[in-house]
Amino acid sequence: MHDIIEQLDKKRAAARLGGGEKRIEAQHKKGKLTARERLELLLDEGSFEEWDMFVEHRCVDFEMDRQKVPGDGVVTGYGMINGRLVFVFSQDFTVFGGALSEAHAEKICKVMDQAMKVGAPVIGLNDSGGARIQEGVASLGGYADVFQRNVMASGVVPQISLIMGPCAGGAVYSPAMTDFIFMVRDSSYMFVTGPEVVRTVTHEEVSADELGGAGTHTSRSGVADLAFENDVEALLMLRRFFNYLPLNNRDGVPLRPNGDPAERLDHSLDTLVPDNANKPYDIKELIHKVVDDGDFFELQPDYAKNIVIGMARMAGRTVGIVANNPLVLAGCLDIKSSIKAARFVRFCDAFSIPVITFVDVPGFMPGTSQEYGGIIKHGAKLLYAYAECTVPKVTVITRKAYGGAYDVMSSKHLRGDVNFAWPNAEIAVMGAKGAVEIIFREEKGDAGKLAAKEAEYKARFANPFVAGARGFIDDVIQPHETRKRICRSLAMLADKKLENPWRKHGNIPL
Ligand code: HXC
Repeated sequence: MHDIIEQLDKKRAAARLGGGEKRIEAQHKKGKLTARERLELLLDEGSFEEWDMFVEHRCVDFEMDRQKVPGDGVVTGYGMINGRLVFVFSQDFTVFGGALSEAHAEKICKVMDQAMKVGAPVIGLNDSGGARIQEGVASLGGYADVFQRNVMASGVVPQISLIMGPCAGGAVYSPAMTDFIFMVRDSSYMFVTGPEVVRTVTHEEVSADELGGAGTHTSRSGVADLAFENDVEALLMLRRFFNYLPLNNRDGVPLRPNGDPAERLDHSLDTLVPDNANKPYDIKELIHKVVDDGDFFELQPDYAKNIVIGMARMAGRTVGIVANNPLVLAGCLDIKSSIKAARFVRFCDAFSIPVITFVDVPGFMPGTSQEYGGIIKHGAKLLYAYAECTVPKVTVITRKAYGGAYDVMSSKHLRGDVNFAWPNAEIAVMGAKGAVEIIFREEKGDAGKLAAKEAEYKARFANPFVAGARGFIDDVIQPHETRKRICRSLAMLADKKLENPWRKHGNIPL
């Protein structure tokens, strides 16, 4: 018995060593932690239960039968984050560069299957050279098996990818199908084809970082949600983010009580919106002042900044926040912001997270680049997402709600449950100047008359009471009571039940 235990210990030690001391040292030299060190930081101390430590690849080509490392380049299992269950896989770059073999894929699939059965999120820590070249099509099959599970798990359990090294070729499509992608600056990159292929095909000179680094994907492409300075920061922030998430689509949002009173008033909000309707202000100030403890976990802060999305809590419960930001492009909706917000609303809806929408939107962005780029189809994504959404929806119009964008931004007509407006809100087809220029086109030369008509239009329509008179706005509220009114609305909506008609699935304008 003693011998067997010793053997087991030896096997475990070999598995823990991955690709060996030299490769671990090389990993550290790049400023990267090993697969196991990462899991230690991500999970509650001592909570990790490892599976398949002794799995080996089955490849015999290229002398691979003589190169076997127990665990085969990925550490898998489950553990806890602040006492809540999560399934994890962490690719080990020290073993064949974290490349994915058939066996490696089977390990990932096993934890994904189990996560689906018990209803717990899956977090993948990606650090891999892609398909295990020696295995050929067996590896490609392994990827496809993971992809299929990503799709089946979508909307059932939250899936988060943290890219901590290379992630290239078709391998990018597994993270792409997860709900959130976080990256580490300077040490991670994602691209479908690398700089060499780009040079050959398009003759462009571009570095790996420029092509697919964290900066690129969080500001230009919108592929990733957040970028962090190093492994440690990324893992600790991922723990924080996890606290907001339901465990699955039936679990409901977690409750994390805090001392912030639901009825708290904030009088500084009464002067947040400038008197001049064309002057910008930062919608994030409102968000910070309204949510519990000013704690707002923003996603995609550097991409499509004209719309703000992220997680927060109201009276201890997770909410999703969507807000036009007048500070950027006057808060207009364009292609990027529509897609950004639509995907977020759909995530919230899938996981029963109430959506709070702050509206200050002058309309959709005009211009050939928007029209040629398909703003019609992409703007429709956000409209579709809000209209389809059945979770509690509370909307606050802080200033402008013009045109189609009024309808889109969680209006009463799209089954908004509670729709508030601040007293200075302007809810109309368009701004007074534009409206008068169209209605009174023939008076173009008469500046005085146009000015009078503009003032008349403003007085008649640039307020919340026309919408209020029709019940499109449930109440006109004082800015300082915004938190209180939202918290009461959410409490009222706690047991909301609303179902869409049966169908296989809708056909969102993708
Ligand atoms: C097998 C691999 C590997 C791979 C790296 N290694 N990638 N082994 N299959 N795909 C091994 C290396 O041989 C080396 O082994 C170790 O991992 C570390 O690699 P290095 O090159 O020394 O590291 P580094 O200089 O940091 O470069 C990392 C890298 C590079 C940029 C990822 O290794 C690389 O370009 N690898 C090939 C990438 C690739 O073409 N993958 C296939 C893409 S196609 P030793 O023994 O020396 O430590 C694909 C299709 C997926 O993935 C399709 C899904 C549908």
